[in-house]
Amino acid sequence: MNARSRPLPTPWGKMMLAPDDARVALDDDRLASARILVIDDEEANVRLMERILHQGGFRNVGTVIDPREVMAVFEQEPPDLLALDLLMPHVDGFELMRRVAERLEPDEYLPILVLTADATAGTKQRALAAGANDFLTKPFDAIEVALRIRNLLRTRFLHVDLKRHQEELEERVRARTGELEDSYRQLRRVDEARRSLLSRVINAQEEERRRIAGDIHDDSVQVMTAVGMRMHVLRKLLHDPEEIAQLDRLQEATEAAVGRLRFLLFELHPPALDTGGLAPAIREFMSMAAHTGRFVFRVDDRLQRQPDPEALTILYRIAQEALNNARKHSGASEIAVSLEERDGGFSVRVADDGRGFDVGDKLEPAPGHLGLLSMVERAEMAQGWCRIESEPGTGTSVEAWLPDGAAPPGI
Ligand SMILES: Nc1ncnc2c1ncn2[C@@H]1O[C@H](COP(=O)(O)OP(=O)(O)OP(=O)(O)O)[C@@H](O)[C@H]1O
Ligand SMILES: [Mg+2]
Repeated sequence: MNARSRPLPTPWGKMMLAPDDARVALDDDRLASARILVIDDEEANVRLMERILHQGGFRNVGTVIDPREVMAVFEQEPPDLLALDLLMPHVDGFELMRRVAERLEPDEYLPILVLTADATAGTKQRALAAGANDFLTKPFDAIEVALRIRNLLRTRFLHVDLKRHQEELEERVRARTGELEDSYRQLRRVDEARRSLLSRVINAQEEERRRIAGDIHDDSVQVMTAVGMRMHVLRKLLHDPEEIAQLDRLQEATEAAVGRLRFLLFELHPPALDTGGLAPAIREFMSMAAHTGRFVFRVDDRLQRQPDPEALTILYRIAQEALNNARKHSGASEIAVSLEERDGGFSVRVADDGRGFDVGDKLEPAPGHLGLLSMVERAEMAQGWCRIESEPGTGTSVEAWLPDGAAPPGI
């Protein structure tokens, strides 16, 4: 063996094809122009392989006689297949396979065809373990060489195509993920803006309700009450039974109007919210609201302290809507409210044992039916949550939780 080599940098010899019986028809140009690198320290072997390959239809055959030059060829233009002698000076075939393996991408498939004179079973096993894919035994059969190389190259190109396909797919997935992330961020911004706007509207509404309640209390209720008292005085001055009866009817109507005004006042802003807190306001609401069915009403109040004014109002409005629904729609025999402090906040739960309903159907806002949605929106706007659980025939439970001291965003 010697270390003579053909000079670099032109390992890929271009040669005119010589038609020959031994030539395997190459059905595709990609195979015919695949880069095949023959590495053998015997010049005669290299020339023979080169000739066989050219006759086999392969146009792009490179040869290296000094195995130390192989890695430099890889740097220039990596081959698609190696035809490799095992026993060589300086760097033997096993060591070369190790170096090549180090340089390959983890999922790259580079076929290695080992050229052997008469390798023992042990040598073959070692070569396979080192990364060899196939063997060619000298003397070479020209047709066999071309066929084996063609098959190995086909597998190589399948791998290359698969990898490229995977990379294209990954790129598309990356691009699509980026687009989705953008849309998600945009949706979040829109949602935050919507919540902030909603929060302003609701707070302005509460403020307006409080103001109207104050006006009604200071004006209409006072005036009507004074009218009632005057009628009371007037009644004492009358003697005609007919006139007294008329005044009584007038007095009853006035009292009823004052009663309705007080209920309106309460609906607008229950005074108990400012004086007693959540449980008294809820009790008062239920005592004032017209009962549409026969049910037992209970409040289990475990609050040691009251939420801040915003949270208090939001929790009250949620409870009010849940109670209205239970009164109007459930046909329950029992409606229970529980209030407690937990998880760093306050929760209110309204449960009834009535007819229940399919929640999924109702959370889509339908014109004229916005109560369920408004409960969820109010809770979320204050960084809390509201869960509505119900199924036909099982009763309904509405639970809302708000964090302690959380002011709604945008206020
Ligand atoms: N506790 C309940 N028991 C049985 N059905 C209920 C209960 N709560 C809600 N529902 C059903 O869900 C529907 C939607 O309730 P939602 O509060 O959104 O609207 P609404 O009460 O009909 O109208 P509003 O907008 O005045 O509240 C109700 O019409 C009713 O059919
Ligand atoms: Mg409702």
